[in-house]
Amino acid sequence: MAADIRLNAFAMNCVGHQSPGLWRHPRDRSSDYNRLPYWLDLAKTLERGRFDGLFLADVLGVYDVYGGNPDAALRHAIQVPVNDPMMLVSAMAAVTEHLGFGVTCTLSYEPPYPFARRMSTLDHLTEGRIGWNIVTGYLDSAARGMGKERQTGHDDRYDVADEYMEVVYKLWEGSWEDDAVKRDRASGIFTDPTKVHRVSHHGENYQLDAIHLSEPSPQRTPVLYQAGTSPRGRVFAGRHAECVFMSGPSAKIIAPRVAAIRQAAVEAGRDGRDIVIFSIATVVLGETDAEAEAKFADYRRYIDHEASLTLMSGWTGVDFSTYDLDQQVRHVLNDAGRSAMDNVTRADPDRVWTVREVAEHVGIGGIGPVFVGGPAKVADAIESWIEQTGVDGLNLAFALSPESFADVADMLVPELTRRGRYKQAYQPGTLREKMFGRARLAAPHPAASYRP
Ligand SMILES: Cc1cc2nc3c(=O)[nH]c(=O)nc-3n(C[C@H](O)[C@H](O)[C@H](O)COP(=O)(O)O)c2cc1C
Repeated sequence: MAADIRLNAFAMNCVGHQSPGLWRHPRDRSSDYNRLPYWLDLAKTLERGRFDGLFLADVLGVYDVYGGNPDAALRHAIQVPVNDPMMLVSAMAAVTEHLGFGVTCTLSYEPPYPFARRMSTLDHLTEGRIGWNIVTGYLDSAARGMGKERQTGHDDRYDVADEYMEVVYKLWEGSWEDDAVKRDRASGIFTDPTKVHRVSHHGENYQLDAIHLSEPSPQRTPVLYQAGTSPRGRVFAGRHAECVFMSGPSAKIIAPRVAAIRQAAVEAGRDGRDIVIFSIATVVLGETDAEAEAKFADYRRYIDHEASLTLMSGWTGVDFSTYDLDQQVRHVLNDAGRSAMDNVTRADPDRVWTVREVAEHVGIGGIGPVFVGGPAKVADAIESWIEQTGVDGLNLAFALSPESFADVADMLVPELTRRGRYKQAYQPGTLREKMFGRARLAAPHPAASYRP
């Protein structure tokens, strides 16, 4: 029997996220991103649809590559203004019971010691429903905001990240023994100090001599997500990731990346099937195919070329304001994310993209495919995509929020459930238990090697 299809919702603590221009649509509510009712309502909608998780993207800088300044990003609300994603989680956890939260935090600009405590805090408060999307950033503007001239080179960022992971594993897994906390009123001992161990790390990038500040949380290490598909990114994912996100416009591009990630896990001594892989997609649903097509046509009226290209310029590090709309996109190698550029150039040499085509495509849901139709047609398309690519599920971007997610909960989920391709109910336990059927990371995952 085919496995259940995993669904994550893809959002960000900002306006519009990956559908630039569509915040102007009268039914889009994402400009309420700075108010809790928007997020509480979204979390409840996702749990109604039994989504595995809400994946919150984040960037610390602004999209100032287009035109060499942040003006277009500010005009079109291209991921600016952007608030901190971690702050949203406790409130959403309070109104849900099962929904997981994959929060993006860049490790490039925050030392591991305070970061590990913030994650542990959220793991406690969510009762083990927190995940971390490990990113190193792709915007030079973030580096400048943190007092550096530019970001660290592409592959070097992953070397730094490897060391960062070693430090946080030591804090999460190695500092406190499982039975360190006694909470014993009779003896007056809260924590047995002999069971709390100092972490001593003296590496190339990080120095630390301290105990972890949080007591053991339900998952210890949060569920680990990662999204790099470059050769160096794959090595990192193979070693650390439990879930991998990828984005690409066609199954032809995604399938080899899936195979390469699973192979990278094998090379790291793990089982390739042990990594749950999500690819980005957007679905536009109606009760009938015709209704969905009409909805899609309506959404498309709000696509804005400059807004789309501002987003794409940030992802690729290429200033698309200097291009003619009918010019062909050519490959450029730089220190931004590599996969975004490859998606519209060398990943599929048979598909040539003009700048205009990129702008149109990215306008709804970013660079992933858009599946349009009634529930049966979209479910067919998703089943076929999964069959062709080997992914385990989808990271669903929205055209309008929360409309796109409510449509999935109300129309697509019942159809997938009827087909036996979607869980009837959530599994009990933490996010890791729900996703992988185990409480802790097990050897040969490196986190397991730091336990006392
Ligand atoms: C689906 C998806 C979501 C991502 N979300 C973020 C994010 O929220 N913040 C971030 O800094 N990078 C994000 N990235 C970028 C990745 O962390 C990484 O930098 C990018 O995929 C390029 O990696 P590569 O050059 O190894 O392929 C995302 C990438 C993908 C594919």
